[in-house]
Amino acid sequence: MIAMAATTEDLNDPEGLPFYHRSVLVGEVLDSLAVSPGRCYLDGTLGGGGHSEALLEAGAMVVGVDQDEDALNYARKRLARFGDRFHAVHASFGDVAQVMDSMGVRQLDGALLDLGVSSYQIDTAERGFSFQNDGPLDMRMNRSASVSARDLINTASAEQLERIFREYGEEPNARKIAQRLTRDRMVRPLASTFDLVRCIESVSPRRGKTHPATKVFQALRIAVNRELEVIPRGLDALADYLREGGRLAVITFHSLEDRIVKQHFQRHSAATLDRPEWSAPRANPECIFKKVTGKPVVPSEGEQRMNPRSRSAKLRAVEKLAHVHGRSSASSSANHTPP
Ligand SMILES: C[S@@+](CC[C@H](N)C(=O)[O-])C[C@H]1O[C@@H](n2cnc3c(N)ncnc32)[C@H](O)[C@@H]1O
Repeated sequence: MIAMAATTEDLNDPEGLPFYHRSVLVGEVLDSLAVSPGRCYLDGTLGGGGHSEALLEAGAMVVGVDQDEDALNYARKRLARFGDRFHAVHASFGDVAQVMDSMGVRQLDGALLDLGVSSYQIDTAERGFSFQNDGPLDMRMNRSASVSARDLINTASAEQLERIFREYGEEPNARKIAQRLTRDRMVRPLASTFDLVRCIESVSPRRGKTHPATKVFQALRIAVNRELEVIPRGLDALADYLREGGRLAVITFHSLEDRIVKQHFQRHSAATLDRPEWSAPRANPECIFKKVTGKPVVPSEGEQRMNPRSRSAKLRAVEKLAHVHGRSSASSSANHTPP
């Protein structure tokens, strides 16, 4: 049973279902993936199924992956009308090889990652992602994962917490907050999001528009879900399954994840490498892509006005080169269709 967040007025609400998430850059994603009927796509971050729905409406087949069971339950209902053209799988996109094997799909025409959390996850107090709602300190996207935010906050050392807040949140008061937390938890373990907010506010009082807990909450969420570690693994695995000419599109929402995607695409799309000690540039053995987007694509002013959460979104896309020999080029198009 899905516990829904308070319904928000939303133009994209599917009929009969409460609001879950408003998809960003939908038209731009379809363009960047060059979607056409009968092709097979993997949506590695299914969420509320908005992007998948657009792919299915364009006549494609979609394997939708999410590590959050709530997303799968919601998207299965939303996309039921597409019958066998849509399959939902509970997994991390980092484990795409297992997903593909279990589905018997050997080749993809394209894949999408829309990174981060959904509005549903943020707005649902019991998931513990938001400093604006009081709820358990959880933050696990996959609720069968063993480590929650509560475990991290109450067991990690002050040095580990400081590193998390600094590296994943770029929090200037990382050390002070970590020290304060480790003192407070000796009196009573922190159990709720508001316990954590109170502790952060005692070190960084409210000033200006940004809530002082913003960066620490982002950092904790990234650490709990190992969000940055999984990106390169997922990108490598997806590339392995793309057919020649297949496209990979990624939407990021903050600079840490965008840097990883940008550098990954850069490393794998540079045709040549040059070093001062070399007399001439050499062919890049890691070159498997050509870029589809030069600069990242960002939401139009209209989209940003209609959906303020889209403001920081950046879309980057690449196309797999024809000469790359891997799993996908060895597979036959007869194995194209999900069972
Ligand atoms: C921004 S939302 C996606 C929204 C979706 N594109 C839509 O149109 O509704 C991100 C989703 O990705 C999921 N997610 C994040 N990291 C994941 C991972 N490593 N593997 C699978 N799903 C992940 C989250 O649980 C969340 O549901």
